[in-house]
Amino acid sequence: MASIALHNIRKSYGNLPVIHGVDVEIEDGEFIVLVGPSGCGKSTLLRMIAGLETISGGRLSIGGRMVNDLPSKERDIAMVFQSYALYPHLTVAENMGFSLKLHGTARDEIGRRVQSAAKILALEPYLDRHPRHLSGGQRQRVAMGRAIVRDPKVFLFDEPLSNLDAKLRVAMRAEIKELHQRLKITTVYVTHDQTEAMTMADRIVVMHDGIVEQIGTPLEIYDRPSTTFVAGFIGTPAMNLLKGRIQADAPSIFRTDSGIAMPLSLRPGSADPGEELIYGIRPEQFVIADEGGTPAKVIVVEPTGAETQVVARIEGARIDGENVNMLFRERIAVKPGDSIRFALRSASGHLFSAATGRRLPEADV
Ligand SMILES: Nc1ncnc2c1ncn2[C@@H]1O[C@H](COP(=O)(O)OP(=O)(O)OP(=O)(O)O)[C@@H](O)[C@H]1O
Ligand SMILES: [Mg+2]
Repeated sequence: MASIALHNIRKSYGNLPVIHGVDVEIEDGEFIVLVGPSGCGKSTLLRMIAGLETISGGRLSIGGRMVNDLPSKERDIAMVFQSYALYPHLTVAENMGFSLKLHGTARDEIGRRVQSAAKILALEPYLDRHPRHLSGGQRQRVAMGRAIVRDPKVFLFDEPLSNLDAKLRVAMRAEIKELHQRLKITTVYVTHDQTEAMTMADRIVVMHDGIVEQIGTPLEIYDRPSTTFVAGFIGTPAMNLLKGRIQADAPSIFRTDSGIAMPLSLRPGSADPGEELIYGIRPEQFVIADEGGTPAKVIVVEPTGAETQVVARIEGARIDGENVNMLFRERIAVKPGDSIRFALRSASGHLFSAATGRRLPEADV
């Protein structure tokens, strides 16, 4: 097992920089998820850790040893990709033992390790089958088996579940997490799916355009996103982000650009009166108010059974961006065109600078 340290890691393809100085310290045994939109550099970063991509700048250490120039096969890592690329003419057991055979490992030893990995992954009944006779989930387990038999110091996963259907993805997500809890091997897992990140990670690294936006535990990131990008990326439906200001004479009220008043449960420590700000509010922070509250008109209702998502237009809103997404865990009987009144749960707003997108430090209240 091993820790991994990335110090000011950079990558350029020709003249084009794509990773702009990434710092991440991964502890021994930790499960880290790199998440971000397509093209933000997740795979590039992972491939640099794997040694499949050269590093243009910075220091990469695994287990305390600088490995920038160490060939991939000497880094003691195992990687699982989205396309599991099993050999179709080899059985499950042969697929799993293939890399050990290449390394010249003794046959008995290969058999022993394959058996043990098959047991961990519940693949024992399938060892003599060929990949075409397996389900997608079983194939993905064989791909993981291939990584496990090598007994690596580090596991790297690049979107390993994106070829699977939704139900299988959830099942495999739990399997990978359980596997990690048992084996405790340092893992870096890449996904663009924020739900996968939230449910699997010890800590999440949110990336955007080749930089790290925030590093933290899933709940730290959810509860205190440090930028509007993270606020909008983590959580579904996404956090509502409304532009507006705080006036000097009413410091506990945020006024949107249309003049709508939103209550503030936190006092911004550093906003200048009149400075352009962004107010973030999560969809589940809305409650229907019997009396008082803010009036709004229902535009769209999306019931999923367990919850109801409502898109509403706040009364008085002159700006399209001021439609809000609300999420109710209880059943509510509303239809498009209905008038509702809403209030917010306490301690629910987030404030960001519109100029920088960064979260405002909160004053001690
Ligand atoms: N071999 C290459 N040559 C030039 N540019 C590349 C190369 N590989 C990747 N890039 C660019 O680097 C950036 C990061 O790509 P990368 O594959 O790391 O993104 P990603 O976050 O993994 O995206 P996705 O979620 O779509 O897999 C992209 O802009 C991509 O076009
Ligand atoms: Mg990728």
